Amino acid sequence: MSAEPLEIYLEERDLDRALRSDVRDGLTADPKWLPPKWFYDARGSELFEEITRLPEYYPTRAERAVLAARAADVAASTGAKTLIELGSGSSEKTRLLLDAFTRQGGLGTFVPLDVSVSALRQSTAQIAADYPALRVRGIVGDFTRQLDRLPTGGRRLVAFLGGTIGNLLPAERAGFLAAMRAALEPDDHLLVGTDLVKDPAVLVPAYDDAAGVTAEFNRNVLRVVNRELAADFDPAAFAHVAVWDPAREWIEMRLRAGRAMRVRIAALGLSVDFAEGEELRTEVSAKFRPEGIAAELTAAGFVPAEFWTDPDGLFGVTLARAC
Ligand code: SAH
Ligand code: TRP
Repeated sequence: MSAEPLEIYLEERDLDRALRSDVRDGLTADPKWLPPKWFYDARGSELFEEITRLPEYYPTRAERAVLAARAADVAASTGAKTLIELGSGSSEKTRLLLDAFTRQGGLGTFVPLDVSVSALRQSTAQIAADYPALRVRGIVGDFTRQLDRLPTGGRRLVAFLGGTIGNLLPAERAGFLAAMRAALEPDDHLLVGTDLVKDPAVLVPAYDDAAGVTAEFNRNVLRVVNRELAADFDPAAFAHVAVWDPAREWIEMRLRAGRAMRVRIAALGLSVDFAEGEELRTEVSAKFRPEGIAAELTAAGFVPAEFWTDPDGLFGVTLARAC
């Protein structure tokens, strides 16, 4: 079967409306912030793939090690007919699951969902070519808003990999898990990847690499706002900052203004002033403890069934059943 055209849950105009309201809310707030989903235009998705290959960025390799060891268990214990992947990006690690399901038999459909059209186009074409027996149906959508529209019927496994759940703030995360549970039926499963709390000497470089790829990725959000909303951010005037917050156990990504400046966002009729040294928050990446993950899943109505880590204990993957 060949890749079908993408199913669109988010039209251009929905995206445009959401970007406008996020940028207006975030840049007029004190402190200023921007939500992370706007990193991922075509260039942002490419930069993220580059991040996954950096020597400092251990999460991708660690999660891949878990999936390589446990994919057969996931296939056997879920017996899924449909695999839905949220924030699928390149779906590169997901191939380990697809391979295991192919060996076991029974999986009919793969549904990657992402806000990045460019990432989805590539991944659906490549996966459809490499797994000819699978029906591949990509969805352009927002996993914080559209879980009620996921495909129904047959046993489903929802995979949410890469530690992306940690990019939601705690209240958003609780809302996400509750909406996820509401979208599932008993015996459907959720497979969620979470980066684990560890020494900041290991954590921080993963978000502030020597080659400066993460810095480029972080500044990319300014390029997106420039292009989409006719703004005049000078990305080079902003420094990349990654700090570990030990109380909240998250890495916070910021962009620090190198000088005082006024930025015009023409499409919003908005001007925003930055003081020298002022920081704009662009992303949090929460790190988890095994007992915290289990508690959050249980509170949302899931039964945590398995918790696996890589041999170095860097990254956790939890398999939970809807009950
Ligand atoms: N799952 C991949 C990619 C992780 S990067 C991996 O593990 O390597 C996060 C992905 O989530 C990106 O592809 C980004 O485009 C997507 N994303 C971020 N916010 C999103 C949202 N609100 N809705 C849907 N996709 C989102
Ligand atoms: N889900 C990834 C993470 O939290 C996203 C990510 C990796 C990221 N590096 C980043 C987001 C740098 C913003 C900036 O690990």
